[in-house]
Parts: sequence; structure tokens; C-alpha cells
Amino acid sequence: MKKWMFLPLMLAAFLACTGCGPQSAGVSVTGLRCEYLTNPLGIDAAKPRLSWVLESSDRGQTQKAYRILAASSAEKLAADTGDLWDSGKVDSDRSNQVGYDGAEPSAGTPVFWKVKVWDRNGKESAWSEAAFWSRGIAAADWQAEWIGPDTDSKPTVMPPAPFFRKSFTVDQPVRRAVLYLSARGLVEPSLNGERIGKDVFAPEWTDYTRRIQYRTYDVTPLIRQGGNALGIVLGDGWFSGYIGWRKERGHYGLRNSLIARLELESEDGSKTAVVSDGTWKFAEGPILFSDFMMGETYDARREMPGWNTPEFDDTAWKTASVVEPPAAPLVSQPAEPVQVHEEIAAKEITEPKPGVYVFNLGQNIAGWARIKVSGPAGTKVVLRFAERLNPDGTVYVTNLRAAKCIDTYILKGDSEEVWEPRFTFHGFQYVEMTGLPAKPGLDAVTGRVVYSSSPVTGSFECSNPMVNQLYSNICWGQRGNFLSVPTDCPQRDERLGWMGDAQIFIRTATYNRDVAAFFTKWMQDVEDAQSPEGAYADTSPRLKDLPQFEAVAGWGDAGIVVPWTVWRVYGDTRIIERHWASMERWMDMLLTDNPDLIRKNRLNNNYGDWLSTVPDAGWAEASARKIFLATAYWAYDAKLMSQMAKALGRAEDFAKYDALFQKIRDAYQKEFLKPDGHIEGESQTVYVLSLYFDLLPEDMRAKVAEYLIEDIKKNGNHLTTGFIGVRHLCPVLTQMGYPEVAYTLLNNDTYPSWGYSIKHGATTIWERWDGWTTEKGFQDPGMNSFNHYSLGSVGEWLFASVAGIDLDPEVPAFKKSVIRPMIGGGFTHAKGEFQSIYGKIASGWKLDGDALTMDVTIPVNTTATVYVPAAEGASVTESGKPAAKASGLKFVKQENGFAVYEAGSGNYSFASTVKK
Ligand code: BGC
Repeated sequence: MKKWMFLPLMLAAFLACTGCGPQSAGVSVTGLRCEYLTNPLGIDAAKPRLSWVLESSDRGQTQKAYRILAASSAEKLAADTGDLWDSGKVDSDRSNQVGYDGAEPSAGTPVFWKVKVWDRNGKESAWSEAAFWSRGIAAADWQAEWIGPDTDSKPTVMPPAPFFRKSFTVDQPVRRAVLYLSARGLVEPSLNGERIGKDVFAPEWTDYTRRIQYRTYDVTPLIRQGGNALGIVLGDGWFSGYIGWRKERGHYGLRNSLIARLELESEDGSKTAVVSDGTWKFAEGPILFSDFMMGETYDARREMPGWNTPEFDDTAWKTASVVEPPAAPLVSQPAEPVQVHEEIAAKEITEPKPGVYVFNLGQNIAGWARIKVSGPAGTKVVLRFAERLNPDGTVYVTNLRAAKCIDTYILKGDSEEVWEPRFTFHGFQYVEMTGLPAKPGLDAVTGRVVYSSSPVTGSFECSNPMVNQLYSNICWGQRGNFLSVPTDCPQRDERLGWMGDAQIFIRTATYNRDVAAFFTKWMQDVEDAQSPEGAYADTSPRLKDLPQFEAVAGWGDAGIVVPWTVWRVYGDTRIIERHWASMERWMDMLLTDNPDLIRKNRLNNNYGDWLSTVPDAGWAEASARKIFLATAYWAYDAKLMSQMAKALGRAEDFAKYDALFQKIRDAYQKEFLKPDGHIEGESQTVYVLSLYFDLLPEDMRAKVAEYLIEDIKKNGNHLTTGFIGVRHLCPVLTQMGYPEVAYTLLNNDTYPSWGYSIKHGATTIWERWDGWTTEKGFQDPGMNSFNHYSLGSVGEWLFASVAGIDLDPEVPAFKKSVIRPMIGGGFTHAKGEFQSIYGKIASGWKLDGDALTMDVTIPVNTTATVYVPAAEGASVTESGKPAAKASGLKFVKQENGFAVYEAGSGNYSFASTVKK
């Protein structure tokens, strides 16, 4: 028989497999992760949580059971020997947040693991590929000293960065070499002249008085037989550099120091270690200073070629000082590291003044510039960074406030010199270069984009190019501000973990990227920053000596909103357990301060609906509107607490917080709500929060929604919301039956709107609606960032309503999702894709006249309620057949212009007719 004669048979077999009958193709297991990370090294958890993703071409496919094997070597695992753990066949559909329950691995040794599952037909899958994690190091096992340079820095003087080295000999074959490294300051490690890993700004920001992170690196490939040398450059960063607008350096201390342990495991399993101690040498090299806010000055003439190789002669180097160890414990960094992720070539170069060259990257970023220059030794190239240009084409830097953001490179005189700074970053689109003897080429500047390595999970695209640019700006806002902690902005003297911004944006952030590990780490910062009385700080980590910077409504409440969101999106109950006591302290404090259930006390900085266009009562003034906002948030906290209590199975706490919610709601209605549905201090935000937080009597909701619509109309079909109101505006309009009004706001390009900034060249989300206007030019430079993500919290609505991918209100982690696109706004198509913890969810629709097509993907082991836009009585098909009869689908009802189905996993192609 010829090959082609098999084809019909093969086709028949293929078709049999794509249905959900007994002939199903079964599932395969991929995407193994441990504590949300892929193959993490050095994690602290003894019993980490595991997850995997299932794939199948079947519809309605699920996991009935799983089996996990964990082994102490790759070989054992390959031979199916789970010497650390064999879970056995566990009858469960759990594929997320599965706790490892095997033998506790000893520090540093990897655990290799794999998973197989049984699908809904009882069919057994193949084993997944192997994955691994390794356990971090216990405090007692470091056996190393903290060392630093011998200089005593002064608050006002930014010191040169010391270069440390240690040479050592390896005389036996090494099976595994692992470096544990931490610092009070920032480190860039290298071994035998090669950089170790790609992390920048390690070990990243925590409150150094509470905990200090360490990183773990597998350096086995870099170890040589014979002479070796470890080199570490030590910078200032958050520990000793300038932070925020604080006038003095040294927020946590002035003497940088590091601790290192390089563990070498021989073939026979015996271990030796090279550790930081008083035998290490150091010298000051080319980095004359380097600071996040001020920039870096680098004198290439002072380079020390080969300084981190074994051959280097360090006899002239000084001996490191052993310094006091910190009181705070060392903890493994639980989140993905900050790294360089993208490079952007300059798009154009201008010369607004003779010898002043301005490079335009075409995109506002956080990071730095790598330069390629040439000139005589001693030539000083000065770089300044800006988000916008002045009318005369020069860089606009006044909005940087006290952050100088100047990088200086002093040439050594080579034919071509390529340089980038190590311990600073800037927020910019434009780079000004001065000091070169001749005009540089366009390739003299390359933008290096730096952020925490949370994996991309979302994409969004629609038929309105302006909205696509808005989505891009939202994503760039996240890139530029998720840098170790969620910051407000990356350019001026601030860059702080502002809580209000984070809680408003978190839900959008979870669509764009997998931020589970990022927020797991940050919630620890949030708890560390909490006052003994229970007040969450305005920024986490907390700035010291600022007593009024805590407990602010909408800011402090992040302490409740963030764990709740992580639970809802990722199904993580551990974050709730871990911070439960802290959240209770916050709730207790609010009640003690406000026994009459109106939150008017301890409002401190009281930012209100920050940067709303409604004239506000001014910073720190307690207007009715602000007391309303505070009380509304308190009620919301209570509601979220009740839901979290339920998730933990705490019945009493559920009852307690549910009752508290009702009581605050009653008090709120008495205090603010007028009989006709008008609300004290009214504004769009007041209406929106009342509706979203469920603070109104049922029969008043429609009325209040009408007032909201009136208010929008009164403002010429524009929004007036600030940071706090903006997040819930479009969701509330949609929920209350006014999606077209939400689309109007989205499509607007007149002030104030998202489109206005885009019309004027925004490539990120602006801090304020009027950061720049045609009438007034730049806003007050005291407060005018062009890269603040808060007003970009509309991204949540783009996914949840325009594309139509949302959480089921009752089921966390997208184990069940709601697919409900709201067509409108003149859009002819929209599409969203989101990699949930169970796998990819997609929803895309196209409109041709009144003919609608809609493609949906539901991940294996999950279900969805799918709302297909369809006029009453219209026929709805799926892959050309009546949808009600399609495999994997069950028709539920026709409701408000949607045909509603319960769907199992799989890909679906719907077609219907909508009412025009
Ligand atoms: C920050 C904000 C922050 C605010 C408090 C500002 O300086 O940049 O994003 O939330 O202060 O209102």
C-alpha cells in the first residue's frame, strides 16, 4: 500500500480523537511551576506549592487524578523512582496550589519532579517533562562574614563602587557549584571574568531592617579546574542611595556590605565552600558613583582589565573589612528578578543647540542607555534623560524634581567604546548627549528596558488603533513601574511602592503578566511596613520618620485588596493565611478609630480621589467626599475580608466581617444617601464606588446609575475620576446597562480622556489627565510624571468586557471563567488572550454588519459560562452546527442580547446575528 492510501484511515483516526468520546486524545502535562516560578533555585519554602497546565485537543477535558514523583536526581526521576516523594494516584482535579508533601530536601540540593494525570475518561497521560527546584540556605549554613570596603561614607557623598575579588583553587572535579549572595546595597557578581546570571539590582528592595533577600545562582558551568576568581561589584541602590524625595542618602545605612557563599560539590558528594571573609580584596575602579536618582559617573580610564579573573594581580588591592552582620534575617527572594528585557534602537537624532544631541527612542521606558562612542581619552560624555521635550526641542527635565538622572562616561580613548551603567535607572524617552567631539550616529544610543521578570500573560487587540495604543501604554506603564516593587513612576525623585496606585492597578496587572510571585513578595513588604497599631503605610517599603504617611483611605486598603486579588486570580489561599493577622490588625484599628462606623478619623494625608478633575478640598482636608471615599473603602475591606474568611473556612470570621459590612453600609446610607438617591459630596467617583462596593439599597441602584450618566453628560460626555474612581468607572457603567457610555469615554480623545494623552504623543499612561495640554503646556513640574500606571486601570475592563474574559464571581483562579464580550463603541473586532494559571483563555469577536463571529478558548480542567452576543431568536452556530448541540456546550438561556452556554474546555467558533 502506498503512503497516501493510509490518509483516509489517519484522517478518520484524527477525527475520532478530536471529539470528546471514549476515543479522546487524552491530555499532556506541561508548564510545571513551583511557587509560581519555573525551575527556581534557592527557595525558602520546605513544602512549596506546585502547579501544571494540561493540554488537549478534546472538548470538555478535565483532570480526574494526578500523580507526582519527586526525586533527588534527574537519573532517579527518569527511572520513575520518587525517592523524595511519590504522591501515588490522587483523585483530584487540582492542578494548581498543590502542596509538595515529600521528604524535606536539604539546603541547596535540587528536587527533580514530574507529573502525570488521568483525564476525565480515566485515560492516563504520559509523564510531563522533568522540572526542578532547589531549597535555599538556612541562616546557620552561610558560615560567611559580611564584608565591606574600609571607607566610612558620609550622607552627602556618593562613594565609588568597590570591586571585590577572591581567588581560589579547585583541584577536584566539581559536580555542582552554587553561589548564594546577598548585600546591603546592590551586587553584580562574576566568576572567572564572566557575569553570573542576568539579574540587575540584586538582591532588590525590602525594608533592610526587617529582612534582606539573597539570590541563588548555579555557577557550575563557570567553574574551572585550577585557579578561579569570584568578582563582585557593590553599589548603593535602595540600601544607601537616595530614596524618594528624602534629602539625605542612607535610608537604611551608609556602609554597603555583602555576604557570599560559593558551595562546591565534588563528584563524591563532599562539599567545600568559598565564603566572604577578611581575606577578600577590594579596590575602587571606574564607577565613581552610582545612584538610582542621581545617575552614574564612570571613568573608563580607571578600568581594571581582568580584575575578576584568576590571573589578575591583586597585591595592590586593599583587604576587605569584616562588618557587623545585620539584625534582619536573610530570606530567599520569592519573586522573579529585575533584568534587562528589551532593547530599543533610537529612532531619530536632533541637535536643538550646537553640540547638544537628542536621541528619541519613540517609547517612554524605565532603564538606561547603552552608548557606543569614540574620542580621545578623557573626553566626558554627559547623558541626560527626559520623557518629553521642551518646545525648543531640548529635554524637559524639570519634572524630575531633585533626581538629577545624569550619567557621565569618561572615555579611555579606544577606537570604539561601548558602555552602560550598572546601578542606576531612569524613566525616559529622550536621551541628551553632550561632550563628544563629533556628531554621533543614531546607533550611539540604545535604550535598555529594565523590569521585574514577571512573565507576559495577556494580549489585547481591537479595531480602534487608539485603543490599541492605550493598551500598549498600559503595558509599558507596568513594565516601567514593576521594578522590584510596584512603583508610582520611574523618573522623578519618588519611585516608591505607593499602595493606592498598586491596589487600583493590580487587577489590570494580573491580566498583562503573571504577577503572583511579584505580589507575594510585595505583600511581605506591605506587612513589614504596617505600624504596630495596624496602620498600613502609604508606601511599602515604608519611608521612615513620616508619621502621617499611613492609614490613608484607598492607599492603606491595599493591605486587604492585594491579598484578596491574588487569591481571586491565582486561587492562592496561603497569601490570605499568611497575612490574616495583619489584615485583622488593620480592620481592628479602623473600628477602634471610628466607632460610629463613618471613617473620618486617622485619615492622615488623605489623598481622596487623587488627581480627579473635580475640584477637591485639598490635600489632607477631610471633605464629605473624602470621608465618603474612606467609609466606602472600609465597607469594601469588610466585604473582601468576609470572602477571604470563607475561602479559609473560617465561619465565625465570615459572619463577623459580613455583619461589619452591613453595619458600615447602613451607617453610610444614613450619613451620605439622600432620599432621592443623591449622595453627599457627589461626583462620578462617589456614584461609582457606591455602586461597585454594593453600598446602596437595591431599589436605588438604577437611580444612582442615572445620576452617574447625567454627571458624565454634564461634563460633555467626559470622565472626572481620579486614581481611585477610574478603575471602577467602565465596569460599573457596563454592569448597570450603559456599556455604550463606557465606550464613549474609551473612544474620547478630548480632555480629559485616555485618548487625549495619546493624541499628544503618549506612549505610557500619564500621571494626570492634563500632564500636557494645548492650552497650558506642561502641568506643574512638581507633580507631572508621564509614566504612572494608575489611570491605566481601565485595562481590566478591556479584558473583562471588551474582549470579555473575566473571573466567575464565585470561583477563584479562572477554574471557571465568564466569557462575555460587550460589543459596541463602533468596534468591528476585539480579541483578548490570557494565560491563566490553568492555561490559555481566549475570546475574540468580529462584527460584519449584524453578523457576529466569536472564537473562544477554554483551558483543560476548567469550564466557562460563555455569553454569545445574539439577538433574541437569532440562530447561533458553533463550527457551522447549532451551538446548542455542539459537543462541550450546554445552552442555558437567552438573556439581554446574549445566548448563554456552559462550556467545557476546548476551542469554539460561534456565529450569530446581533441587533444593530
Ligand atoms: C505619587 C502617587 C501617589 C501619591 C499619593 C504621589 O507623589 O506619585 O502616585 O499615589 O503621591 O497621593
